[in-house]
Amino acid sequence: MNTEIVYLNGEYLQADQARISVFDRGFLFADSVYEVIPYYQGVGFRLQQHLDRLAYSLRAVRIETDHDWAAILDELVSQNGGGNLSVYLQISRGSAGYRTHAYDDRMQPTVFACCSAIRDIYADGPEHVQGYKVIVTADLRWHRCDIKSTGLLPNILVLQQAREAGADEALLVRDGLLSEGTSCNLFLVRQGVIYTPKRSSEILGGTTRELILELAAENGIPYQEVDLRPEDLASADEVWISSSTRGVVPVLEIDGCPVADGAKGPLWQRMFTLFTRFQHRLMTGERA
Ligand code: PDD
Repeated sequence: MNTEIVYLNGEYLQADQARISVFDRGFLFADSVYEVIPYYQGVGFRLQQHLDRLAYSLRAVRIETDHDWAAILDELVSQNGGGNLSVYLQISRGSAGYRTHAYDDRMQPTVFACCSAIRDIYADGPEHVQGYKVIVTADLRWHRCDIKSTGLLPNILVLQQAREAGADEALLVRDGLLSEGTSCNLFLVRQGVIYTPKRSSEILGGTTRELILELAAENGIPYQEVDLRPEDLASADEVWISSSTRGVVPVLEIDGCPVADGAKGPLWQRMFTLFTRFQHRLMTGERA
């Protein structure tokens, strides 16, 4: 459930007091980009990495703004009582006052942010992490998945397809290659090596993905960024997904078949522990 205070265009308001134009291009065309940033104990987790990606998305769609995002979001979190919150930040190109495909540079971007409570996934211990069931299906998205755009209709339809098949997520395939999940990145483990699809315009450069690779490098766990095919899933020892709100989650079943022996794997347990330690360092004052 969302918390009560939202940010809209310079103001902190009760959610039911916030108003935007029906001609806002975010509403009409999904002409907008976004970020989802976890805050633990009131502190942004990998905040700078999220803000760097936001700057990349804004540049890619040519929306110009000069906001102090960290100050806005820190204040929003504090007005909502701090603690463990997921912050949603959306910037749309704004409104011309009527519907028109073409835009010009005089529009004022609409900036909206809200929070919702999240569980501290790492506080509970690995035994409490629920492994995922996934399906494998076609990637219906456009070819700029590196931009965090709010145009999420293909992601939503495919997630729904997964849900209706009794699964938690869908792994997406384009031109014979695995890309990612509908809102997460993908990892495979074989013989102690982590494999993940290379960064390209076909996937979002996940902040959690980056952290997993950083932690692997720091701890001598080999990894490779490669092309992965759906057939590779059958011979994987472990499969994981990652995202800011879920951390790193083991996939235990794919299209009804268990991954290896269907249990959470040892390398996932190790990565989970490394993640937890990293997060504790953040909580104890070191900003990450
Ligand atoms: N989704 N791939 C896609 C398509 C995503 O939408 C996301 C994040 C990720 C993981 O990125 P990160 O590790 O930076 O969260 C990968 C967010 C959480 C969302 O849409 O709610």
